[in-house]
Formats: sequence, structure tokens, C-alpha cells
Amino acid sequence: QSAQKGGHKHFMIKEIFEQPKVIADCLAGRVDLKTGTVRLPELEGLTSPKRLHIVACGTSFHAGLWGMNLLESWARIPVRVEIASEFRYRDLLLDEDDVILAISQSGETADTLAGIRRAKQMGASVIGLCNVVGSSVARESDHVIYTQAGPEISVASTKAMCSQLTALYLLALHWGAQKGTLSAEVTQQGIAAVHELPGLLDAELPAMRERSKELARKYSGVSSFMYLGRGLNFPLALEGALKLKEISYIHAEGYASGEMKHGPIALIERDFPTFALAMRDDLLPKVKSNLEEVQARDGRIIALTNPGLDMGVDDAWVIPEVWGPLSAFLALPCLQLFAYEVADYLGKDVDQPRNLAKSVTVE
Ligand code: G6P
Repeated sequence: QSAQKGGHKHFMIKEIFEQPKVIADCLAGRVDLKTGTVRLPELEGLTSPKRLHIVACGTSFHAGLWGMNLLESWARIPVRVEIASEFRYRDLLLDEDDVILAISQSGETADTLAGIRRAKQMGASVIGLCNVVGSSVARESDHVIYTQAGPEISVASTKAMCSQLTALYLLALHWGAQKGTLSAEVTQQGIAAVHELPGLLDAELPAMRERSKELARKYSGVSSFMYLGRGLNFPLALEGALKLKEISYIHAEGYASGEMKHGPIALIERDFPTFALAMRDDLLPKVKSNLEEVQARDGRIIALTNPGLDMGVDDAWVIPEVWGPLSAFLALPCLQLFAYEVADYLGKDVDQPRNLAKSVTVE
């Protein structure tokens, strides 16, 4: 077992550190740097959808929420992102013009499979975005894109989400280029930038781990955490909170920063700290003012941010600035590492959290 963990204490930390390779493997053969194009032969015969419904559970659902932003912005495709257990029982409005994108690491999640079956009955076509080759989702989908992340052993999903984000990024570039809604110049920029990511992330991970350890020691005594983000960072806030609660059993809520004033702000006090996603983007000034509201209530803040941004918070966690939406690929491992180090510091069974299963094949 220890050999399987590659010298790491847990599978989770091993898998977090595999993410640079996961990105590279997902890109392999799918991007052409010379021509600045994306190749997804898996989608041959399928034109860009009129309407897209992303159906998934758990961490895969969070990946879908992130992908929605890119698909709408670059490919101008209307996208809904649905929790599979809700989608499968709704009075759905679907026909031949609808495409389902089912995201599932295991490819065996019962609710996601049921969602696929209902959608197919109604004439929609299905693209599976899966990690496990030959899984049920893969077999029942009309088209399959494999994320190629390799086996994920830790119950708390890490590298699978990284691979899903990579695939969604490529999908948005692909359909954007196909429809002409994304200029060749931006497509090329996007391809060149994602190509640089594995090397950059690999170089950053050791420092990220050190910072996460420091912060874990400082904050592991609290009983609740708030995670805040806007736009592309909102799904990351949800994922950061999910990781923390899954493995450390500390209560955590992920919220859209702007929505905090409609309820959770009532909870803020010194011992209810906030983990803010405050990387540079157009919405950062808004995030900053949300954080001032937290500080006005004596709430402590960890802010994941970029060089040169003075967030004026208790604990700034500075990570490199990268092109456009790619900041997710640096923020995600920080969120995972923080949850991991808190759980490990508290002596929890990181790879086998109580009450959770790696793949949920029952309803
Ligand atoms: C379980 C796992 C989660 C995972 C979710 C969806 O709850 O513990 O880590 O995100 O199922 O799994 P899937 O295999 O469909 O992505």
C-alpha cells in the first residue's frame, strides 16, 4: 500500500500532486500548438449543441458549474448545470436539439446514469465525460470524452476534477472555434496558456503545501468555515467547502460572495473564518467589498490572491497570476491542500472519510 502511495502518507496527497501530469495527459493529442487548434475526434459527427445540460453529482457537479461559464462565454451555448438526483425526477423539457453532458469520474453514479437514460428516452443526445474506461456512463453515452486522470483511490476527489476542468476548457475552445464565436487569436492564446500549466503547477505545488500546512495549524480549531467566490470562483468556493467538510468534518459553506448578505453574514464572527477566492479578475473589486463586510463583523479571512494585490486580510495566500480562467488550476490544489492538511493535522482518516463512498451506485 505504501508503495502504491508513491511514498506519500495518503492517496489524497499523492493524487493532488499528480495534477500537473493529469493536465498534460488530458491535453495530449488534443491540442495542436502550431496551428492553435483543439482536436476532439470523440465528438465527430456532432455539431455544437443548441442547448446543453450538464448533469452530475458532487465534485463533478462543481466542475460543471465552472464549465458553464466558459461554454456560454466562448461558445455562446446556453448551458444549465443540474444535480443529477434533481434532474432525473423533473418534468423535463428536452428534445432532439438538447445535448446532455454527463460528468462522472467513476461513470457509475446511479443518479447520473438515471439522468442519462431519461434524457435519451426524450430524444436528447448524450456526451459522457468520464474517467473510468468502459464504465456504465461511458457505455450508455452517444459520445465519450475520457479525462485520462488515471485511477483515483482517495474518496475525496481531487485530480479527477482537475481533469474535468481541463476537458471542459478544451470543449469550450473547440465549440467556440467551430461556431466562430471565439476568435482564432484568443483560441491560440488559450491553447498556449494551458500548455504552460503543468510545468508551472509542478513548480508551485511544494510551496502551496507549505503554506497550506501553516494555515491548517492556525485554523484547524474552528468549527465552521465560509468559502466565498464570484463568477468562475464561485464553483471553486463550493468545492473548497465540500473538500473541507468531507475529510475534516468541519462544517463549511460555499457561497457566492454577493449572496452572503442574504443570510450567512449573520453567522460571521471571529471563530467563523472565511476562505476567499480573490484572484485578479473583473469581479475582484466586488469581492473586496464583500470581504470588508466580513471584517466589519470581526471575521478572520484567508484570501487566495495574486502578487501585487493588497487584500488587507489576516492571511493572504499569494499564487501566480495566469491567463484568464486558468487561475482555477492553481486555486483548486490550494483548496484541496488546505482541506487535506487540516484533516491530517486533526488526525482524521483522510482517504476513508466516514459515511462516504467513492462511487455511489445506489440512489
Ligand atoms: C461520490 C464521491 C465524490 C464524487 C461524487 C460523484 O459522492 O465521494 O467524490 O464527486 O460521488 O461521483 P462521480 O464518479 O459521478 O464523479
